[in-house]
Amino acid sequence: MTPPQIPPPRPVPEAAARRVVLVRAFLLLALLGNTACAMSGQIQERTSRSSVSLGAAAQHRGRVYGSAVSQQALEDRDFRSLLLQQVGSLTPENGLKWEVVQPQRGHFDFRQGDALLRLARRHGLEMRGHTLVWGQQEPPWLQTVASSDLGPILKAHIQMVVGHYRGQLRSWDVINEPISDDGSGLRRHRWWRALGPEYIALALEWAHQSDPGARLLINEYGLEAETPAAATKRRGLLALLRQLQRRDVPLHGLGIQAHLQAGPAPGRYDALAEFLKQVQALGLEIQITELDVDDRQLPGDPELRDRVVAAEYDRFLAAVLSNPAVRQVTTWGLSDRYTWLNSQAPRPDGRGQRALPFDEALQAKRAVAVMRERFTRATSATVSRGDRIATEQSTQKEADGIERADAVLLQQGILR
Ligand code: G3I
Repeated sequence: MTPPQIPPPRPVPEAAARRVVLVRAFLLLALLGNTACAMSGQIQERTSRSSVSLGAAAQHRGRVYGSAVSQQALEDRDFRSLLLQQVGSLTPENGLKWEVVQPQRGHFDFRQGDALLRLARRHGLEMRGHTLVWGQQEPPWLQTVASSDLGPILKAHIQMVVGHYRGQLRSWDVINEPISDDGSGLRRHRWWRALGPEYIALALEWAHQSDPGARLLINEYGLEAETPAAATKRRGLLALLRQLQRRDVPLHGLGIQAHLQAGPAPGRYDALAEFLKQVQALGLEIQITELDVDDRQLPGDPELRDRVVAAEYDRFLAAVLSNPAVRQVTTWGLSDRYTWLNSQAPRPDGRGQRALPFDEALQAKRAVAVMRERFTRATSATVSRGDRIATEQSTQKEADGIERADAVLLQQGILR
């Protein structure tokens, strides 16, 4: 990858010239470590390993670390600064779901998705699409549609939404949570009722036609634990993946949501690791798509919770990062300030959950050091076709970063 060409600096006095060289060298080092300079122009001090961002640590082994971002979090300047320092990929937490994107029949609203994409492009980050077919968070008008009309409506939705972002999103969670929790096979939501099991292959085909370069995933939860229910779900999902592959349906990867539970006994992930080997053997990319650790079963003491939650991140990442097909890890939020768990899975004692790498004050918790270590020590990821896009983007990011560096130097009067 040829480094971006930097125009020769204009002549500056001797002492200042040395400062320019020093600052630029420092910035280049910081940028090559894939640490984005926060838009405020502050230069992130990198004094030791402990200041290496999670994104840089993941990239060390050819992986990407990202976070889901809510609309509310995106509007928080301090949070945004931490986000841009830490991640290499963004996922809209709700911004590309049916209820937001097609609130009325035939009326599309891409404002939330576009805002996140602008941020991603400006900072050379990847962006994931979430999600096209789920059966939840759908607008009321869909209830009024005759089942026979749902096929054309689903096709039009996918063509419009995936087409709108054609060439810009690295991957899509096309099918979300298709397997039922009770072991009865596929979840029987409106799309299953309208199109039968075929809705999955149809949706993947329509998405592929709308953006042939996007990597298309099925995204599922409840696969991680050593329980009979999770084992049944893993078996059902594997059968579905194999069937789709036999039919040459355009499916490129599997998303493991990984909403983990911190409980009295530490989680064990041997069965999950075996399952991931079987998915890897199908030639599929694996992404951890919604990682967080629900701590509501733990006592209230924050220090104890941070220790137990960090240990869960450690065990889980040790299990999954040993598989080279695991290309990307996304946490479902970056800071406890914005976690869905506080509204959907609140702690009985009313305290805020401590489920994510950074606390409500945007300070790193134990989990950050643990995640950084696991990313750094992991086996390298297999570079997949889609990774060329990431490399191009990171080159762009370095170029953008150097441009920002010049802005800092100009601001300080070093460069004129
Ligand atoms: O937008 C409305 C707002 O207008 C209203 O004032 C407010 C109060 O009722 O609700 C807002 O909608 C909420 C929406 O998030 C946006 O914030 C919904 O009530 C709330 O139910 C919804 O929760 C989302 C949840 O999916 C819905 O099931 C969470 O934020 C989101 O993190 C969560 O994410 C899912 C993934 O998409 C799929 N995997 C599971 C994961 C957790 O459930």
